[in-house]
Amino acid sequence: MAQNWNAKSWRDQEARHLPVYPDAEKLNAVESTLTSFPPLVFAGEARALKADLAQVAAGKGFLLQGGDCAESFAEFHPNNIRDTFRVLLQMAVVLTFASKQPVVKVGRMAGQFAKPRSSPVERQGDVELPSYLGDNINGIDFTPEQRIPDPDRMLRAYSQAAATLNLLRAFAGGGYANLRQVHGWTLDHIAKSPWATKFGEMADKIGEALDFMEACGVNPSSVPQLQGTNFYTSHEALLLPYEEAMTRQDSLTGDWYDTSAHMLWIGDRTRFEGSAHVEFLRGVGNPIGMKCGPSLTPDALLRMLDTLNPAREAGRITLISRYGHDKVEAGLPALVRAVKREGHPVVWSCDPMHGNVIKADNGYKTRPFDRILGEVKGFFAVHRAEGTHAGGIHIEMTGRDVTECTGGAVAITQEGLADRYHTHCDPRLNAAQSIELAFLLAEMLNLEHAEKKAEAA
Ligand code: TRP
Ligand code: MN
Repeated sequence: MAQNWNAKSWRDQEARHLPVYPDAEKLNAVESTLTSFPPLVFAGEARALKADLAQVAAGKGFLLQGGDCAESFAEFHPNNIRDTFRVLLQMAVVLTFASKQPVVKVGRMAGQFAKPRSSPVERQGDVELPSYLGDNINGIDFTPEQRIPDPDRMLRAYSQAAATLNLLRAFAGGGYANLRQVHGWTLDHIAKSPWATKFGEMADKIGEALDFMEACGVNPSSVPQLQGTNFYTSHEALLLPYEEAMTRQDSLTGDWYDTSAHMLWIGDRTRFEGSAHVEFLRGVGNPIGMKCGPSLTPDALLRMLDTLNPAREAGRITLISRYGHDKVEAGLPALVRAVKREGHPVVWSCDPMHGNVIKADNGYKTRPFDRILGEVKGFFAVHRAEGTHAGGIHIEMTGRDVTECTGGAVAITQEGLADRYHTHCDPRLNAAQSIELAFLLAEMLNLEHAEKKAEAA
């Protein structure tokens, strides 16, 4: 257990990107209410995820993490949860087949509300208001009332997270995630898409593998693993009063866990020495993600790893690199080498979203599909050259048919962005773009698998 740590010790450190609540009494009341609420996840589940991630760190699995940039109260709907879950599973099937390894499935879901912003204020014309910080803090409407941080929003976020997680658990274990079923959706999807021939071949192979197993007596009713899956939740541990209130001591081990999600990550802007966010995460037993961007030096990274994972426990740390398509191959190797040299067992995952934001001519914030794919390719190239495992991907996506990122086989144009641009924060891949990315990623994983096999022979 971490030394000199308690769930409140972050309060003595430098906390950036936290809201200032005008009503301190109300904040205290909400915090104690949350403390009395049931945990959303059980510590044993967080340990199970850590064990799965330890396999990925050892080169024996792949991490798929994805969901909204920011969940919102307005987009809270069972169909949205279902569709994002479904697309993540469709991607997972393709990736499992290509890599011949288990895929660890983690949603940016059931708690991903708070956002760090580049500026504390937003200006529209002559009016300046506090920035929108996420639905668990203030409202997105550009009015003075909406932009006041309101502690009650944490209670609403808790209940939305609880309902979302409940539905995800039901889907994962109740039959919706049946492998045949998921593959069937992918076949339907491919039939309607412009890349039917390109990806049809791999899809057919998956179907044949399932048919073969079925003929051998391996089917969802004889083998429960084919009927369901493990699905985990994650979000950025940004709003520390909420995370602190959700932190509980596990009765089995005596260790502390943040029970708001299975996995928490720390962003680029709150990852510095002396940070309250680092202090908080150091003491909880959950698997921890850490965003790594161009501003991070190898030495600073190693110090962070010593702080967050002094015991060098495998599965504890996932390093999520986010460089930009044109910077990853220059920037990432130094970090990979340092981590490898010091023998830290980490999962390397690629966030190809946050370094690839551009402003379209009509003012929309977007991400070109080619750049996203370019960063993933660069990430794989780096790991191939360094002899390390390209262990995962972290994407902002939705199961809905939005128009937020340009490009892809369905070719969303800059003009088309206006059609269905719904995000509360950053642009997300839509369902078709996500599945296309999975097939393109599959080609890279296939190659890695073939190489490993050749080496072993
Ligand atoms: N249980 C296995 C797994 O999660 C196989 C599986 C069942 C699966 N349904 C799935 C894999 C849906 C991906 C998606 O890996
Ligand atoms: Mn984002």
